[in-house]
Amino acid sequence: MTAHLVAPRTPDSPLPTGMSRSTPAHLNGELWRDIHGRPIQAHGGGLLRFDEHWYWYGEDKSGRSSLAVTGSGQTVERVDLVGVAVYRSADLKSWERLGIALSPRHDDLGGDLHVSQFMERPKVVYHPSGTFVMWVHIDRPDYQLAATGVAIADRPEGPFTYLGSVRPGGLDSRDQTVFLDEDGAAYHVCSTDRNATTLVTRLTNDYRGLTGESAKVFVDRHMEAQAIARVNGRYWFLASGCTGWHPNEARSAVAESIWGPWHELGNPCRAGSRAELTWGMQSAFMQRLDGDRVLVMFDRWRPRDLKRSGYGWFTASPRGERFEIDWRPEWTA
Ligand code: GAL
Repeated sequence: MTAHLVAPRTPDSPLPTGMSRSTPAHLNGELWRDIHGRPIQAHGGGLLRFDEHWYWYGEDKSGRSSLAVTGSGQTVERVDLVGVAVYRSADLKSWERLGIALSPRHDDLGGDLHVSQFMERPKVVYHPSGTFVMWVHIDRPDYQLAATGVAIADRPEGPFTYLGSVRPGGLDSRDQTVFLDEDGAAYHVCSTDRNATTLVTRLTNDYRGLTGESAKVFVDRHMEAQAIARVNGRYWFLASGCTGWHPNEARSAVAESIWGPWHELGNPCRAGSRAELTWGMQSAFMQRLDGDRVLVMFDRWRPRDLKRSGYGWFTASPRGERFEIDWRPEWTA
């Protein structure tokens, strides 16, 4: 009898010709695939709803891996920049890759977008003037630039034009998100004071700059990976602790105003394996869906092979005074 040897399929290999193009299962914690069967590279990402479609922006981590040495002398796994990738979907399940929305540069050593830099946690908001505005953590390999970069485009898929980077109020800015409120005001939210504290800064009316209106919240609570959603008139907050690519216990909080006071609610993860370590994941973004449903996005980082990091998406709703996220093995939208 002849043995038929079948090469094992890795998450990086495209589907063989003729294989079904139907949406593959999105198992939580695994690396997901786009409609062509290719691994989705949109880590540390965020969503934008525009013209009946969803756009998912995130870090393409398929670049060359290396170790960087941080300011405190620790090593951290990194990849050369490939850019901010963008995917489009009508149903939050079938994702089509549109390409790189913000490209790195190969010719500008030391510049914000040079391939040797960090470009993390991109978030995009749409301004009614017709401009898409991206905010992204920009850093040097030693994480000592600690700035936030801004880029604009006139189409959701880009290409985005980079305008430059800034430190909010002169302070360091590392993990970050952007929250667009119901009244059209937008806010930049980041880790500052060497990640000890979270800084909220209102964006200018065109979303391209930072105003002087800001506040430090969760002072000395050491949080990263912040995400915010507004549901039932309240602001719900999700974040991680500070353990780099390694999982820790998620934090949640609620407030009547984005400026606080914030009331901490503890770890919102319920059931499943390792809920006390956020199921091995770290928060990425929260997106309000219909009614009081919130889509909560996580990454499951694989530091030794960052391009194979997985995703975990869940829907959650506030329960009275609490915000809880129930484990589900699969994202089903
Ligand atoms: C995490 C952070 C990521 C990345 C990583 C590097 O804590 O959330 O965005 O910066 O550290 O170690």
